[in-house]
Amino acid sequence: PQFSLQMEGGSGLERVDCRAKGGSPGFKVAILGAAGGIGQPLALLMKMNPLVSVLHLYDVVNTPGVTADISHMDTSAVVRGFLGQQQLEDALTGMDLVIIPAGVPRKPGMTRDDLFNINAGIVKTLCEGIAKCCPKAIVNIISNPVNSTVPIAAEVFKKAGTFDPKRLLGVTMLDVVRANTFVAEVLGLDPKEVDVPVVGGHAGVTILPLLSQVKPPCSFTQKEIDYLTDRIQNGGTEVVEAKAGAGSATLSMAFAAVKFADACLHALRGDANIVQCAYVASEVTELPFFASKVRLGRNGVEEVYPLGPLNEYERAGLEKAKKELAGSIQKGIAFVRK
Ligand code: NAD
Ligand code: LMR
Repeated sequence: PQFSLQMEGGSGLERVDCRAKGGSPGFKVAILGAAGGIGQPLALLMKMNPLVSVLHLYDVVNTPGVTADISHMDTSAVVRGFLGQQQLEDALTGMDLVIIPAGVPRKPGMTRDDLFNINAGIVKTLCEGIAKCCPKAIVNIISNPVNSTVPIAAEVFKKAGTFDPKRLLGVTMLDVVRANTFVAEVLGLDPKEVDVPVVGGHAGVTILPLLSQVKPPCSFTQKEIDYLTDRIQNGGTEVVEAKAGAGSATLSMAFAAVKFADACLHALRGDANIVQCAYVASEVTELPFFASKVRLGRNGVEEVYPLGPLNEYERAGLEKAKKELAGSIQKGIAFVRK
């Protein structure tokens, strides 16, 4: 049964939907994994975004309830729910932006790479759907291990002949959000005044905050640098341990995902100077994927910025990050090519 049709409207008594008359300048956004810990607050926040005209919520469980709930919010986006693999294609057709938080989260004692065996297959299947139904969509990958799931997505798109490196972005925004928060705490500033570039990838030592490039310009003691680097690199583990088996970051992640998705939508609309950190196909290092500042535009990633001047501490961190990243990227590529 096409519950998506039942979920969308309501009574069937509606007059011509003014939102369907072509007046809305909004974008069509799909969330895959929309009933999960990240998916639900992400759906809530995207329903509040005035740039979104249509919001598709896809999961393998519980989307009828989440969709009914979110669809009662009196904001303009039209919400439709899709349940199970047989509705994936309907969920994806016509989408401008696809956000993927589908997959299992960590429990205490696990690394993100321990999620590979389950999440690699989930991301592969979802990306096959994207290649078929909305190959021009901008894709935001949240599912861990991001260092490997982004290369998996790229390989799937290459196989399908649809790969456009500008349109595939791994979401590392939570690392930036955390870095801004922790650095602001140390400096005694409001986090919204602070901008910390975080480069590399999204796991442990691959998360490389560039504290020498913090804005506003400032200096740190070595003790502060050690504390901040460690806290930013292990922010995810801090939440996993505090949740004690009930999952990983969901609320701060939904906040970060929406900040990032909103930047992508503003760029799609044509706004200028949209710059964020993201894990993308890159020539900034010898690795095929790397997170750094990128400029977003109507086609996705318009420019990948170089890392800028690094101090000795950051150069050492970069070498460690590259070593681990190389293995994670290779693992993702091999999973699809095998
Ligand atoms: P969760 O278990 O609460 O939710 C995941 C959702 O994915 C569930 O609703 C589940 O039904 C759904 N799902 C499973 N298989 C699916 C499939 N084949 N198609 C569609 N949906 C499917 O987990 P969560 O806390 O929301 O975390 C989701 C993922 O995000 C995890 O891999 C986690 O590690 C990752 N994550 C990444 C970041 C980041 O910074 N990139 C931050 C936090 C979490
Ligand atoms: C995070 O950074 O919070 C996420 O990657 C989830 C995790 O497993 O730590």
